Amino acid sequence: MTTADLFADAAPAGPAREELAPGAVLLRGHALAREAEILAALDAVVAAAPFRHMVTPGGFRMSVAMTNCGRTGWVTDRKGYRYDSVDPSSGKPWPDLPASFSALASGAAAQAGYPGFVPDACLVNRYAPGARLSLHQDKDERDFAQPIVSVSLGLPATFQFGGPRRGDKALRVTLAHGDVVVWGGTSRLYYHGVLALKDGEHARLGRARVNLTFRRAL
Ligand code: SIN
Ligand code: FE2
Repeated sequence: MTTADLFADAAPAGPAREELAPGAVLLRGHALAREAEILAALDAVVAAAPFRHMVTPGGFRMSVAMTNCGRTGWVTDRKGYRYDSVDPSSGKPWPDLPASFSALASGAAAQAGYPGFVPDACLVNRYAPGARLSLHQDKDERDFAQPIVSVSLGLPATFQFGGPRRGDKALRVTLAHGDVVVWGGTSRLYYHGVLALKDGEHARLGRARVNLTFRRAL
């Protein structure tokens, strides 16, 4: 066995901490230490608030299926994009933010240079093969001094991270199971998106990618 074989499962590709833009940091494999807890908590959230395809204000059904946990959740329908403390599908509050989710988000934010981040919302996105998210800004939150923490699980995806204008050139980076991206400060309102998911089979999540986006929304 070569050294490369010995470290094949342990070593993430590339450096552990990568700057994508001013204030935007990729922490490769950061969620893997809490993988079992995170996946169990994810199952419980999805059992209480199942994934659904929401509709944009323009009337388009999103290819990404979504749910939320936390004090408030991001929703979209014909009336617009907003945060709502109630799941419109059930009329009940969103499931609580699991302790393992909060700890992961706060720890990643601190490592990226944003100490004291305490999320109150987690948007859970599920991408089936072909699902994509076009370039957008996260701007429905109240305080843009708070960063965004984004956790990738399951199949790898190509993440685009651009600049303050939609037309700015966007870099493309592959995000794999356990990778965490944190953006704030100068890049808090930078455009980002996800290219159409390539088909594949992930050992834990099957033919899907799941992304957890942590925000301080209120
Ligand atoms: C998002 O921008 O809401 C999700 C990004 C991702 O899925 O990586
Ligand atoms: Fe986003």
